[in-house]
Amino acid sequence: MSSRCYEIAVIPGDGIGEEVVREGLKVLELASSLFDFSYETRNYPFGADHYLETGVSMPEEVFDELRQLDAILLGAIGDPRIEVGFLERAIIAGVRFKLDLFVNLRPIKLYAEHLCPLKGKKPQDVDLVVVRENTEDAYTGIGGHLKKGTPDEVALQTMIYTRKGCERACRYAFELARKRGGKKRVTLVDKANAVRAQDIWTRTFAEVGEEYPDLEKDHAYIDAACMWMIKNPEWFDVLVTPNLFGDIITDLGAMVQGGMGIAASGNIHPGKVSMFEPIHGSAPKYKGQNKANPLATVAAVQMMLDFLGEGAAAAAIEGAVMELLSSRRVPTLDASSGLGTDEIGNLVVSELRKQAG
Ligand code: IPM
Ligand code: MN
Repeated sequence: MSSRCYEIAVIPGDGIGEEVVREGLKVLELASSLFDFSYETRNYPFGADHYLETGVSMPEEVFDELRQLDAILLGAIGDPRIEVGFLERAIIAGVRFKLDLFVNLRPIKLYAEHLCPLKGKKPQDVDLVVVRENTEDAYTGIGGHLKKGTPDEVALQTMIYTRKGCERACRYAFELARKRGGKKRVTLVDKANAVRAQDIWTRTFAEVGEEYPDLEKDHAYIDAACMWMIKNPEWFDVLVTPNLFGDIITDLGAMVQGGMGIAASGNIHPGKVSMFEPIHGSAPKYKGQNKANPLATVAAVQMMLDFLGEGAAAAAIEGAVMELLSSRRVPTLDASSGLGTDEIGNLVVSELRKQAG
């Protein structure tokens, strides 16, 4: 057992962020006493209200502070009062880029058959992980508009792939497939037939893959991968893909595992401070209503603990969530479960106590 003390930044953010993070922290608190680790949290108020009050989205000096910590737990960012994507770029993408969190890790796991919208798919058929490159591609902000708003307008956005970026994402995926010890298959998902620059992914994947003779190297173009994800999710083990395709296929994957209400991601740089978040948005219409399902944030806390080396605590949290879903004590993953945000948090807490004791 660990006796480490973790320093965790908490950014609840906008909309339902605060409510779901509150429940996630309840689960973290119990996990720390059951599994004998300690932690301190630092709360950061960044999000729409803070921006409207101060004109600051995310102060530069905060990034230096964050670098000194162990992990970041993020709720949700986005508010209809503010220009589309502005806060998301400043805060979510800001943290990803400035802290060089080069992997966006998205486990896609079905906890109970009735949650899957695909006919006949069972929990054993849906257990895969997407390794989404998280610092390059069309997300780097290289581009712009010429003659904006005129009939002659030109809009450009450059997709960037570096050897270093491809290599570290591929390596992470191969290492993960080894660690999982499951099908030992890594599927590269790209569109190198049409987007020829992505040939850098093809070559890097093959070269790095040579260091992993025990693993199967597989490939699918993004369009076909979307099809296979629905038709035969059981084929997949670990997928590795550029940023933009990863963004899209992980939402598809979230539906296959039952919906956004259970989907979490880790923005990871191994050995450095990393950020964990539910992948759903801020759902402003549910703000303050105690209706949002906090399980995706609980799953983010689970991923964070796993990253910090608290594997037993992470496994116990997952076991508790699985039990609540398969027994239908939490009947749905959306806001229609009939349970309050706090009630679901309390159920996780009591089930976790049971599992651990
Ligand atoms: C995600 C989100 C972000 C992304 C948005 C909010 C910028 O959709 O984390 O997947 O596109 O990466
Ligand atoms: Mn997304």
